[in-house]
Amino acid sequence: MTDIAQLQSEILAAVAGAADEAALETVRVGALGKKGSVSALLATMGGLSPDERKVQGPKFNGLKDAVTEAIAARKIQLTDAALDTRLASERLDVTLPVRPENSGTVHPISQVLEEVIAIFADLGFGVAEGPDVEYDDYNFTKLNIPPDHPARQMQDTFYVAPQKGDKADGASHVLRTHTSPVQVRTMLNTKPPIRVISPGRTYRVDSDATHSPMFHQVEALVVDEGIHLGHLKWTVEQFCKAFFEIDQIELRARPSFFPFTEPSLEWDMRCDRSVPGKITFGSGNDWLELGGSGMVHRKVLENCGIDSKKYQGFAFGFGLDRMAMLKYGMPDIRSFFESDLRWLKHYGFAALDIPTLDGGLSR
Ligand code: FA5
Repeated sequence: MTDIAQLQSEILAAVAGAADEAALETVRVGALGKKGSVSALLATMGGLSPDERKVQGPKFNGLKDAVTEAIAARKIQLTDAALDTRLASERLDVTLPVRPENSGTVHPISQVLEEVIAIFADLGFGVAEGPDVEYDDYNFTKLNIPPDHPARQMQDTFYVAPQKGDKADGASHVLRTHTSPVQVRTMLNTKPPIRVISPGRTYRVDSDATHSPMFHQVEALVVDEGIHLGHLKWTVEQFCKAFFEIDQIELRARPSFFPFTEPSLEWDMRCDRSVPGKITFGSGNDWLELGGSGMVHRKVLENCGIDSKKYQGFAFGFGLDRMAMLKYGMPDIRSFFESDLRWLKHYGFAALDIPTLDGGLSR
């Protein structure tokens, strides 16, 4: 009895004194392993008489259980202590950049969209939005393009099958062919002064290296008292300088026609395309087409409930995909929408790489 009690207290002391899991394992093997002290004691049971076994058996098993439990409890203590030590010594630095091999890139269209929004935000413009599936009335009629007007043919339209509740003209929903219907939505819902841009997806039956059936435009609309072409020119100039990141730009305005603006102008920017595959802005003998613009037509203001005697407005609409192609040198618009990961890795942008009116991109 004394031997068993002695052995138990020695083993329990060794268990309590084990400083780590390796030391505890040595104690376990020394006690419960094949040649361990407890195992050796249990092996003597075979040589006992049945009466002795009845007496000694529970004591031997009690020893084995006490040792097994003590080892299990100490193991939990040591594991917890090891975890506490690791947690105290290791730190997670949440400010570290994402590992480059795992990071995706921002699609050039999303990048250019963010750039345009940031630049116009600096100029005091808000962002207005409209749906991709638009009323024929907003896409055309309220913009002074009535149902039988030849100008509808300028914009190869995807018509949407008539829906229940549509208006009488039979094709009252279209995939919007431009962002100009957001002008209508904004003017119907807001009183001047108005200063918004509206970037978004637009659709036309059109496809080649510079035309895509789904593409992007950004519209700008300003309506207030005393607005004139000088404001339009200044805004286009500021925007182009910030977007193309050059101070010396030269713009050219050409007379044009849009039913919703009068007068209407197309803007070109001086550039040099004499080196094949390269385009330089601000010098050279070539002109690059930027997009259409004009003073908001009196009829459009009135169609949208704005007093055209009191208020004037200007608007312009540029192609975002084309601007991205020009700025970042992508030759074919179709690659924007092919989801080729190699292309996206090459032309994509790091997150948060956004310019402002004063500072360009940091790349
Ligand atoms: C318009 O869409 C007018 N709403 C612009 C406007 C707004 C004029 C406000 C006046 C006042 P246009 O059809 O020219 O205009 O298109 C504008 C730009 O969209 C073009 O200069 C071009 O950059 C881009 N674009 C037009 N069609 C496509 C296409 N299929 N794929 C890619 N870009 C296109």
